[in-house]
Amino acid sequence: MQRTLAMKIRTTLVLSLALLGMAACGGGDDVDDTAQPQVIAHRGASGFLPEHTLAGYELAVKMGADFIEPDLQISKDGVLVAIHDDTLQRTTNVASLFAQRNGGYKVADFTLAEIKTLTVLPTGTGKTSYPGFTPSAADPFKVPTFQEVVSLVQTQSSATGRRVGLYPEAKQADPVMEDGILKTLTQNSYGPQSKVFIQSFSDATLRSLRNKEIAQNNKMPLILLGAAVTDKDGVASVGVISGASVKVVTLKDVASFAEGVGLVINTAAYPITKDYITQVHAAGLKVHGWTFAQADATLSAAEYRKYLDMGMDGMFANYPDLGVAARNNFVKAK
Ligand code: G3P
Ligand code: CA
Repeated sequence: MQRTLAMKIRTTLVLSLALLGMAACGGGDDVDDTAQPQVIAHRGASGFLPEHTLAGYELAVKMGADFIEPDLQISKDGVLVAIHDDTLQRTTNVASLFAQRNGGYKVADFTLAEIKTLTVLPTGTGKTSYPGFTPSAADPFKVPTFQEVVSLVQTQSSATGRRVGLYPEAKQADPVMEDGILKTLTQNSYGPQSKVFIQSFSDATLRSLRNKEIAQNNKMPLILLGAAVTDKDGVASVGVISGASVKVVTLKDVASFAEGVGLVINTAAYPITKDYITQVHAAGLKVHGWTFAQADATLSAAEYRKYLDMGMDGMFANYPDLGVAARNNFVKAK
């Protein structure tokens, strides 16, 4: 009898925990866990493991990152895949497996099946393993599809009991990209309150995404990437970077189609100041910064602190553990 009762209690506990885990997934969203500055794992834990891999994303979650960031490209057969460059050469072993196509290795010239034969290689300070960490994916160093990244986020949300955010970037200004992002997110129950930001360097892409979101009645938050521009009168705006040219978009205009800006940090021509961030906040927009790439713990802590003290809301981090430590120290000291 006692054993039956104990089993019932255990079953109830397990179910409750499972439900809690489900609520933590992309679709269920009642808790504001974004009130404190957010650490966004830039291309995964890209300072430690090959960028844009399931292994790198999972390690970032284990390090406490709030969001993982997949940059997205489109394969020849129209599938969204997580990779930064529009070519496969810098981050994979494509050159050792395939001949060039159209004079190179463009993602758009390879089918998903072909891309899946590749292995993603470490770049920069990345390595092929991280001490004490075994990736849970069967193929942790393949180029993931966007859907595989979403599935990892949801699995990790359940496993950790906290909502892991998703921060996809449309790397191509292409309606196919826009439609693919919206379709994948919608199919996975993402909505206006989900822990998600869709980012782009193209204001045209974001304006189009916003129009499509409104038409689909699913307004997920958008972030315009660019540079902090301040005019001679001290008025803040966003510099939209396209090749060598920079187009200025007013904060009022940005606020008409997006929820925030993602700004390049540490660039002398476009300094981010406390006053700049105050003006962006006054326009109703969030301020995120990229890229926090300092590997040295002391220098990194100082860099994070500089921007956190100005009021930055989110930081793209190559070393998510350093970002989380800096954010936690900042919150504790407040
Ligand atoms: O998306 C923010 C930041 O990642 C932009 O730089 O070149 O790493 O995509 P990139
Ligand atoms: Ca990016």
